[in-house]
Amino acid sequence: MTNVILLGPPGAGKGTQAKRLVDERGMTQLSTGDMLRAARSSGSEMGLKVAAVMDAGGLVTDEIVIGLIREKLESGESNGYIFDGFPRTLGQADALGALLDQIGQKLDAVISMQVDDSALVRRVTGRYTCANCGAVYHDETHPTKVDGVCDSCGSTNLVRRADDNEESLRHRLMEYYKKTSPLIGYYYAKGDLSSVDALAKVEDVAGAIKDILDR
Ligand code: AP5
Repeated sequence: MTNVILLGPPGAGKGTQAKRLVDERGMTQLSTGDMLRAARSSGSEMGLKVAAVMDAGGLVTDEIVIGLIREKLESGESNGYIFDGFPRTLGQADALGALLDQIGQKLDAVISMQVDDSALVRRVTGRYTCANCGAVYHDETHPTKVDGVCDSCGSTNLVRRADDNEESLRHRLMEYYKKTSPLIGYYYAKGDLSSVDALAKVEDVAGAIKDILDR
């Protein structure tokens, strides 16, 4: 069993690579972004509370996201977890360590996905996803084979995120540098950190991640 964190700024390709690991290794993707968007769509009290923060590109409180992860870790069995977009603060990182201890598991790798910030606007503003299966596409670099139809599941429900605009991205990036990038040093000091060039082609990034996980 392998547990891995994919760490990187918005648009680095965390979700894209997490989905490949699910398909190829049967691992479980835990994306706090997806969980929060699901809470919004369900109209739950928590979902409504976080909607404005997410649209503006801010971070939801540690208490809420740690609660979401705790629920998943305590309730499920898995062939290894991919933490996608979590942790995002030092408080979340400490909490994850404690939660894994509680269930008798450990973190095997933290992969820092390194990109040039100038690539992120294009990646994020061109992104769309399948609302049915979560497959990730891009207008220029990875469009669906048939216009408007998901390659993976055939759904025509392809959607764009409310926070995928330049203004919100700039705020998300600022939050990343202020609150999340210190985790690179945190995990380096713990001896868990590896890095990949996330500007490379999707296949090549996947190969580099595979090498790290097989090590
Ligand atoms: P979240 O959903 O986690 O968004 P994010 O971290 O901003 O990351 P993205 O999903 O935007 O990017 P990604 O790295 O997954 O890239 P992707 O693979 O899609 O969070 C959203 C919001 O929820 C946050 O702003 C916050 O409000 C809240 N939140 C979530 N977690 C939280 C937490 N822990 N604490 C507090 N608040 C939290 O790829 C992007 C595009 O690029 C795609 O179109 C893709 O096709 C393309 N692409 C990917 N890889 C490549 C490649 N190698 N080459 C070319 N194109 C590529």
